[in-house]
Amino acid sequence: MTHRVGVALGERSYDVHVGRGAIRQLSSLVPADVRRVAVVTQASVPVDVRRHLPESAAVSRHLVGNGEEHKTLATIERLCEEFAAAGLTRNDLVVGVGGGMVTDVAGFAAASWHRGVRVVHVSTSLVGMVDAAIGGKTGVNIAAGKNLVGAFWQPSGVICDTDHLATLPEREQRCGRGEMAKYHFLTGDDLLALDLDARVARCVAIKAEIVGQDERESGRRAVLNYGHTLGHALEAATGFSLAHGEGVAVGMMFAAHVAHALGRIDAARVQQHRDVIVGEYGLSVEVPRGVKRAELVQLMRHDKKAVDGLTFVLDGPAGIETVRGVSERAIDQAFDALSVP
Ligand code: GLY
Repeated sequence: MTHRVGVALGERSYDVHVGRGAIRQLSSLVPADVRRVAVVTQASVPVDVRRHLPESAAVSRHLVGNGEEHKTLATIERLCEEFAAAGLTRNDLVVGVGGGMVTDVAGFAAASWHRGVRVVHVSTSLVGMVDAAIGGKTGVNIAAGKNLVGAFWQPSGVICDTDHLATLPEREQRCGRGEMAKYHFLTGDDLLALDLDARVARCVAIKAEIVGQDERESGRRAVLNYGHTLGHALEAATGFSLAHGEGVAVGMMFAAHVAHALGRIDAARVQQHRDVIVGEYGLSVEVPRGVKRAELVQLMRHDKKAVDGLTFVLDGPAGIETVRGVSERAIDQAFDALSVP
């Protein structure tokens, strides 16, 4: 049995199918008027969606390289040239098959091609299933920062087939747990008590509820960036040798220390962050050696949320919320607590 979770966004609403064998729902997500399907994926993704697409559709395959260095405008340009060569029209469909990087890139290419064609995501990583493939954020990196160029472009459906996680390397499972721990702090839910399918479906439902209230992040959606301000800076500072979910795990611990320095949470709540992130979700909260706080501060100033000095998503008496103009002193205290030089 698969779970079907709705993302309610008026005329842009769609379903996310979660569970073992959910890929069999793919053909039901292909609109009847589609004649060509452009599958955007990576050579390393071991999922062939061809047999789950309508036989009548002409299917072309477009590869994206592995690694953040391929998440660029140059990749978008190449994909669009390939869409042109495949004859992809405004009525046709892009299907992104892969982890968060692939669906971010496929989504942005779909948003740009002919000023927007429909896209369906087949998410094959845990991070992608619980976060990246849901909610319509698409984009690529530029030298100044991660995901700085992109578009809100909702998919017309998402497949999260948990059979695809069976061969996922432990490190990628860990990255997924980083995003799951985020949902733990947002809701207090004991996600680890659920079986895998129910856990993924619950994370999707939490995200869907938040996105449904604030599609374009003018307010509440920013809470989904808990741990991401330092997390993104750490990814960039380590040349992406620290993966996204690993950065988010450290970032949430850092955010707890910042919140404590600002008097928003007590020491027991800081300890609870450590207990959950390290003890329950099995993640590290160590900042990699060699990374300096001055560089991290510089990178955090480029964060998309930063319209007024340093901005963080922080825990506090009213729960997790965006806090602007965080003092350098609080940041320093948090770096001290994590022994960052
Ligand atoms: N990954 C955060 C968001 O989709 O808003």
